[in-house]
Amino acid sequence: MRRLTAVVMALTVVALGCSGEDDSGSAGGALSSSRRDGTASTSSTTVAPPAPRSTVVIAHRGASAYAPEHTFASYDLALEQGADYIEQDLQMTADGQLVVLHDPILDRTARGPADACTGPVASKTLAQLSACDVGSWFNEAHPDRADPAFAQLRIPTLREVLERYAGRARFYIETKSPEAQPGMEQALLDVLDEVGPPADGTSAAGERSVIIQSFSAESLRLVHSLRPELPLVLLLVTSGEPLDPAILDGVGDYAVGVGPSSGNVDEALVDAAHSQCLDVHPYTVDDPAEMTRLIAAGVDGLFTNAPDVLRPLVAALPGGRDACG
Ligand code: G3P
Ligand code: CA
Repeated sequence: MRRLTAVVMALTVVALGCSGEDDSGSAGGALSSSRRDGTASTSSTTVAPPAPRSTVVIAHRGASAYAPEHTFASYDLALEQGADYIEQDLQMTADGQLVVLHDPILDRTARGPADACTGPVASKTLAQLSACDVGSWFNEAHPDRADPAFAQLRIPTLREVLERYAGRARFYIETKSPEAQPGMEQALLDVLDEVGPPADGTSAAGERSVIIQSFSAESLRLVHSLRPELPLVLLLVTSGEPLDPAILDGVGDYAVGVGPSSGNVDEALVDAAHSQCLDVHPYTVDDPAEMTRLIAAGVDGLFTNAPDVLRPLVAALPGGRDACG
């Protein structure tokens, strides 16, 4: 009821043209904790309670609705559109380097010499992958959004992403299929130790400079054992209906949140997660009506390919939970 009242109040405020919050949506704004502190102006006799935190905007593979996924172009645009986090999916090369690419097989998004740019990433060296263009596929698939410059885009390493956006982005990094890529977790921690932002913040996932996500609880448990200060989010496999809150049991032992498929999320799941101090970050939502439903249900963040669609909704609709003990 508190959340519903807050949503109605926020919509009323927006309708009056006075949001009263800094929702500039810039990456710099996202990195400031003050936007979520929510302390209202005071009169001589009244101090308003803290507002609920905003729902964080997680750019899924960057602003991948508009630019080739997991490229500097998609990350640059995501930050321009006000994303709080940019997402990285990890693959590991034959010579043990972490690159940012969703698929374990190159063929969908890579173009270039067949010996270097087709087949499993795990069979290629980083030097081979440097010959691959990961933008032309997007121009072929989306001629309405094509840009000749996209053909120059290359597969970035995790290190390159962390270095390029240091101090101006938050990172949401997935250990992808880690059971098939032994050593991925240690390689990730090595890169973070060298060039990543330090782990920071409170118990809330939405206030961290870096979050590690995985569908593999085993992978997250390993990371937790090695770096207990890192915030972790367990991704939940898509099912046909709202999830049984029992799926959350034990997750809080190592993670600060869960990432369910958006269609499996209802208010009961969100409330159950919040009662265990777990944040809820559903994936992947581009439809504004579905975004609105999930924000009203109280989710703490959303993965989206279109940060420009989500950002104004977050500005209008407070979501998430208050600080959790
Ligand atoms: O990591 C959240 C979401 O991205 C999971 O799905 O396949 O896009 O990595 P996928
Ligand atoms: Ca992902």
